[in-house]
Amino acid sequence: MEKDAGPIGVFDSGYGGLTILRQIRKMMPQYDFLYLGDNARAPYGTRSFDVVYEFTLQAVRYLFGQGCHLVILACNTASAKALRSIQQNDLPKIDPQRRVLGVIRPTVEVVGNISKSRHVGIMATPGTIRSRTYELEIAKLNPDIQVTGEACPMWVPLVENEEYDSPGADYFVRQRIENLLHRDPLIDSVILGCTHYPLLLGKIRQYMPKDVTVIEQGSYVAQSLQNYLYRHPDMAERITTGGATRFLTTEQAEAFEAKATVFMGEQLKAERVQL
Ligand code: DGL
Repeated sequence: MEKDAGPIGVFDSGYGGLTILRQIRKMMPQYDFLYLGDNARAPYGTRSFDVVYEFTLQAVRYLFGQGCHLVILACNTASAKALRSIQQNDLPKIDPQRRVLGVIRPTVEVVGNISKSRHVGIMATPGTIRSRTYELEIAKLNPDIQVTGEACPMWVPLVENEEYDSPGADYFVRQRIENLLHRDPLIDSVILGCTHYPLLLGKIRQYMPKDVTVIEQGSYVAQSLQNYLYRHPDMAERITTGGATRFLTTEQAEAFEAKATVFMGEQLKAERVQL
């Protein structure tokens, strides 16, 4: 391990990235992690491109300042709207040795092997759908796949307000799934392109026809990160080990701790920070 090694930074607009962190930690429990949720300014899903980029860059700079050499944008909205600019324009100026990776590419890489009909659906926040990032990334790898994006503006609020198990959630989950499959009945695979959606998985599976594969991204992101570190041992050397995780939030720590427990499936302690 290098002298100035640090934890892996994991960033999300709020709680959703915890579903990704959970999978990464399961696969690579040896590493240290620093999670940052910008809960005070969440949700990002309905914000403009410029604002999401500005907030995400602030968070990345903060995590670099805390010693992270590698930051994962565990948020589809931030990955869709900010990742490319940060990688191409900001990183070379800030520190070309550091890396920022997103969650969209690892998810897109698996879809070519899963879809037989070559008709794929994306369910995500309005911001992610509007950015058309999934379409563009899928077209680069599998130009034969037809992609239909369905914005689900109510799904994040349902999860944030702990209504994901309530009868009210049934209406909104069913409505969006029916709409998507009505728009393209040949869809055989659906990507859940938002880190909040794993909490709605029970209801999503209930209303999704059994012959449609639901693609959850957490394990694919974790797998892709593991491969990345295997291919880049120099980066792996710059990550501290010991299995510790610290949780930071821009909101009140107590409020974060209560909800984060639901996403992580364990009790945790958080610290409030200002970006
Ligand atoms: N974590 C975000 C995503 O994956 C959803 C929450 C938000 O809108 O901020 O797109």
